[in-house]
Amino acid sequence: MTRRVLSVASEVVPFIKTGGLADVAGALPGALAAHGWDMRTLMPAYRGLVKKTKAKRVLWASDDLFGGPASVKEGALDGQKVMLLDAPHLYDRAGGPYGNPADFTDNPLRFAALSWAAAQIAQHGLTDGWTPQVLHAHDWQAGFAPAYLRFADSSVKTVMTVHNIAFQGTANAAMLGQLMLPFDKFTPDCLEYWGHLSSLKAGLMTADAITTVSPTYAAELMRPEFGMGLDGVIAHRSADLHGILNGVDDAVWNPETDPAGKPYSAKSLKGKAANRKALMAEFGLKDIKGPLAIIVSRLTDQKGIDLLADTIPTFIAGGGGLAVLGSGDAALEQQLKDLAKAHPGKIGLRIGYDEALSHRMFAGGDAVLVPSRFEPCGLTQLYGLRYGTVPVVAATGGLADTVIDANPMAVADKVATGIQFHPVDRIALGHALQRLLVLYAQRSLWQTMQKRGMTQALGWSTSSSKYAALYESLIA
Ligand code: ADP
Ligand code: GLC
Repeated sequence: MTRRVLSVASEVVPFIKTGGLADVAGALPGALAAHGWDMRTLMPAYRGLVKKTKAKRVLWASDDLFGGPASVKEGALDGQKVMLLDAPHLYDRAGGPYGNPADFTDNPLRFAALSWAAAQIAQHGLTDGWTPQVLHAHDWQAGFAPAYLRFADSSVKTVMTVHNIAFQGTANAAMLGQLMLPFDKFTPDCLEYWGHLSSLKAGLMTADAITTVSPTYAAELMRPEFGMGLDGVIAHRSADLHGILNGVDDAVWNPETDPAGKPYSAKSLKGKAANRKALMAEFGLKDIKGPLAIIVSRLTDQKGIDLLADTIPTFIAGGGGLAVLGSGDAALEQQLKDLAKAHPGKIGLRIGYDEALSHRMFAGGDAVLVPSRFEPCGLTQLYGLRYGTVPVVAATGGLADTVIDANPMAVADKVATGIQFHPVDRIALGHALQRLLVLYAQRSLWQTMQKRGMTQALGWSTSSSKYAALYESLIA
């Protein structure tokens, strides 16, 4: 019998994306269908989305959702369905999903509304009769949804997934009433968070189960260095905590079918050589005898981008090249601009967000660098593996769980797929880049590693069966 789960997220591929959360929320419904779970996804109708998805069918409505009328309309894009929460007073505005570019000051209200609507749907169903047995909340934007259900004594089971604990959805405690939260729950063992509200803490305290996106990050989250103030909460709930790795959506990320370049596979890498040439030309790079490294990333402190200025010059002197696509922190953007300017023809830089270019980079690069200080799962190292673009990663979170370092035993046992380094500083990254130069020069070992990465089981089948098993255990 088909089972039903309502997924609640603030970004979903192909509708809107700023990072990996969107990739995951977009891939889950298809992956879970294979396990007999009918997952419907609720997200905000940001400006233009109702039109773009031709959303008409109304599945839920309210005269007053936190200050204005709202409805849920079903839309579709590229063959994928979504339920859009159309509430113009909250979501019909210029800019990204969270701001323009600074965060919207009413974000606590905007995403509490998303969570409230989700909880209403979970309790009372949609107009077509659909009711979920499980509500799956992603990150702080959906964190109040499990709380609303808990406070209503609902029988619908809830899962709270942490994609990144750095974002906690804090809000002024004075908003309690406005956000429809009960005053008697404003205690440290429920809603109160250092004198404030935090929607993520609310979800973590009230959900039936908690997941995060890798086993290593699950363990890291209980430590003050990684828990960012919520380590105690996570440790308190460790019996209900599961680390489930993200997967790669094969329909979107597959070098054999990707229109971004010449197709290639683990059997023949010929197409990749042509893609490398094209990528170099696109970035204005010349005479790179060593590995062409790529970076596709949000430019934030999390991602360790500041370590490049001290490490890349030596890598380039050793024959390497670098192509970077990213946007974010202005100071990091400037650092990269300075670095690229100092190494013309060896470092190429595109500031911005460009999905198509990111595919061309994975298709043409030799290695992908991910020097993150923390990384709940990380997707770019997975795309690197899939595309034979060898990952060089910090040994943290999901990076530690998905890349097998080319240490002597792993090479001897024929299991190495990349390079890991630790700790996350310029000395360790510099050394990792040195190892990259050496490995790349050993052509047959290098190609074996590329091909091994390409044939790893990185798809959603294993992880989606873990989510399905978790949902089953909750409703049993
Ligand atoms: P995070 O979610 O922390 O940003 P992930 O590695 O999980 O990290 O996911 C990042 C996703 O966003 C990947 O799909 C990556 O390719 C994409 N991405 C990041 N920056 C850019 C950019 N500037 N242009 C295109 N895609 C990007
Ligand atoms: C977050 C994390 C990233 C993870 C993604 C999807 O944005 O930073 O590591 O892959 O969510 O779960």
